[in-house]
Amino acid sequence: MKRKVYALIFTAIAASFLGCSVEESGDKATSEGKQPENERIEKLIGQMTVEEKVGQLNFYVGDLFNTGPTVRTTESDKFDELIKQGKLTGLFNVHGAAYTKRLQQIAVEESRLGIPLLFGADVIHGFKTVFPIPLASAASWDMEAIEKAEKIAAIESTAAGITFNFAPMVDISRDPRWGRMAEGAGEDPYLGSQVAMARVRGFQGESLSDAQTMAACVKHFAAYGAPEGGRDYNTVDMSERSLRETYLPPYKAGIDAGAATIMTSFNELNGVPASGNAFLLRDILRGEWGFKGMVVSDWQSINEMVSHGNVANVAEAASMALKAGVDMDMMGDAYLIEIPRLIEEGKLEEKHLDAAVRNVLKLKFDLGLFDDPYRYSDTVREAQDIRAKEHLEVARDVARKSIVMLKNEGQLLPLNKDAGTIAVIGPLADNHADMNGTWSFFGEAQHPVTFLKGIQDAVGPNTKVISAEGCNLYDDNRDKIANAVTVARSADVVVMVVGESAVMNGEAGSRSNIQLPGIQLDLMKAVAETGKPVVAVVMSGRAMDLSWLDENIAAILEVWTLGSESGHAAADVLFGDYNPSGKLPVTFPRNVGQVPIYYNHKNTGRPYEGDYSEPKSERVYKSKYRDVQNTPLYPFGHGLSYSTFEYSEIQLSADTIGFDQTLKASVKVTNTGPYDGEEVVQLYIRDLVGSVTRPVKELKGFKKLMIKNGETKEVEFEITSEDLAFYTIDMSHKAEPGAFQLFIGSSSEDVKQSGFYLKH
Ligand code: BGC
Repeated sequence: MKRKVYALIFTAIAASFLGCSVEESGDKATSEGKQPENERIEKLIGQMTVEEKVGQLNFYVGDLFNTGPTVRTTESDKFDELIKQGKLTGLFNVHGAAYTKRLQQIAVEESRLGIPLLFGADVIHGFKTVFPIPLASAASWDMEAIEKAEKIAAIESTAAGITFNFAPMVDISRDPRWGRMAEGAGEDPYLGSQVAMARVRGFQGESLSDAQTMAACVKHFAAYGAPEGGRDYNTVDMSERSLRETYLPPYKAGIDAGAATIMTSFNELNGVPASGNAFLLRDILRGEWGFKGMVVSDWQSINEMVSHGNVANVAEAASMALKAGVDMDMMGDAYLIEIPRLIEEGKLEEKHLDAAVRNVLKLKFDLGLFDDPYRYSDTVREAQDIRAKEHLEVARDVARKSIVMLKNEGQLLPLNKDAGTIAVIGPLADNHADMNGTWSFFGEAQHPVTFLKGIQDAVGPNTKVISAEGCNLYDDNRDKIANAVTVARSADVVVMVVGESAVMNGEAGSRSNIQLPGIQLDLMKAVAETGKPVVAVVMSGRAMDLSWLDENIAAILEVWTLGSESGHAAADVLFGDYNPSGKLPVTFPRNVGQVPIYYNHKNTGRPYEGDYSEPKSERVYKSKYRDVQNTPLYPFGHGLSYSTFEYSEIQLSADTIGFDQTLKASVKVTNTGPYDGEEVVQLYIRDLVGSVTRPVKELKGFKKLMIKNGETKEVEFEITSEDLAFYTIDMSHKAEPGAFQLFIGSSSEDVKQSGFYLKH
């Protein structure tokens, strides 16, 4: 009923501006959904002035917080006026049911055409219930858990008025120096694609017009995760084959899963900035992939083409971006200011403008905003849904699933809840501010459960928990180390919580050194010298160089950044209430000099398979370093459990398959105890000979399953020629006949091996 009333009010207002009555315009029927959407859109476009059209492409950040540098020409106190004038398509990074409703009312009731606003946001890993950072949840390899988390993110965000989410970021990254590795799913195109689909499904649900779902935005198109030197915003130069094979699949997967929008990236790709790149946007995205949704620029990325140096001024940038297919200008004012002038001067055809407006209006229609513009701003839901108990329970579950146990020498873990005295030491041990991590502007700093609190909540009544900060995160002051050592000496076991703060990764968070920041390593050394058993809990938004820890610390948990329930989730794993099941979605190098390092590399003509024991005085003419092994510290897919899983040899349904046949490969996995636990069974293949060289391994499937202590489960994968396809010498995407190796195992290195042939 409420919906109909809004529809009527809206229709009446729209109709009055169109100079006809509701009956005459037929808009009443339209708002009841009887007239096809595209007709409604065309009708509206027909009524719009050029200024109103560019207004629909103009997107500003609100006044709550900024996520970039501002060159916007208008101040935030002018938003109301701009909305009335139809010069804003929406605002982003604003929230609140009452606030968004007030702005929406201005748009619907006071602007000439009454076109509703979009409210965008970076809900990257949860709204107020903060989930683990995306790299962390990717480490769960649990697509259901990821989808569930994003569904909750959508429920909370939409209650606060948000309709358009700038996520998922699906950029593949093989370089841990790049801070935004934190926001993606790691290095692998297959895993990255699965995660991209799960996130889109979670945000968008079954229908965009559902009041509890929001539009997803696959970003950043394209190849933003491959900047030279790992430095954010830097140049990307790569072959079309690498682009298509490694970097594009997750964007495509997100689009295929129905993502309504896509965001261009800041980087240039092979000399052409992404926001003016017709090859990416027209040929691939709209042409090959048939994308019908809306393309938004990244923050001022249209204007930044001037700095890139492929256009002389913002007018040229605006024209190039619009023609390439960027529909909406985020924060640049480039479209708002330049496009009317370009059209007026006959330098740009209005049809380009109309095409962009069409895509923006379609998004607003699909979200149901024309039927009920206030459906997403719901004060009742906002009060009930945000940080609901069941949302926090899911956050805890996803968080513990995201933890990767890297090492557990002598079964130091799980700890006994009656361990006597436990010392919890480190600058991140009782730190609220950094638990929510990068891109969590909505999460409040007082909320997250710290590691100290989580441990205190978990232990038995006779266990004493003591703590020390040990050092600061941002300076080299050593004054607190002595106290930490004293605290460690009086404990039976030490849990050290070390790693990166929220600003040490994420956007503009590149690092040239990927060891523990500051003097945390010195703190660890001082504590380790006490001889007490030490568990390292490492927080990070990237793969780290943990070589010293690996040599000197008995147990290491990579906890990434876990969000609201950080301490509870970590305690669940530390004390064995949850048996760790996370697996690395990125390779951990031995040192930063090995970067880029990734499991699916090529073999080279001089592969090095030595044991690294030749005399250093010799020259070995192989592809290797003189000062570090080729192998990573921890490979992609690695992650330990408190149980051991034994794999049988691989059974294949055939040793040869044709192009239209399916190969079945299976193993039996036995949990040899002593706990129940989940295992991620991973399938890799290697195409031994190709018209172009192929990687030494490629992930082609995985299954995460619970196996009880003592139980054996059979896991079966199906492989078709489609799974074996690649970009061949003539760039056609197809499989080539020949011999393949097939691996199934517990990580990219710990595998059983078999082989088969593909024949015509
Ligand atoms: C980031 C985007 C983000 C946008 C809006 C940009 O700086 O690159 O990922 O969505 O800001 O906050």
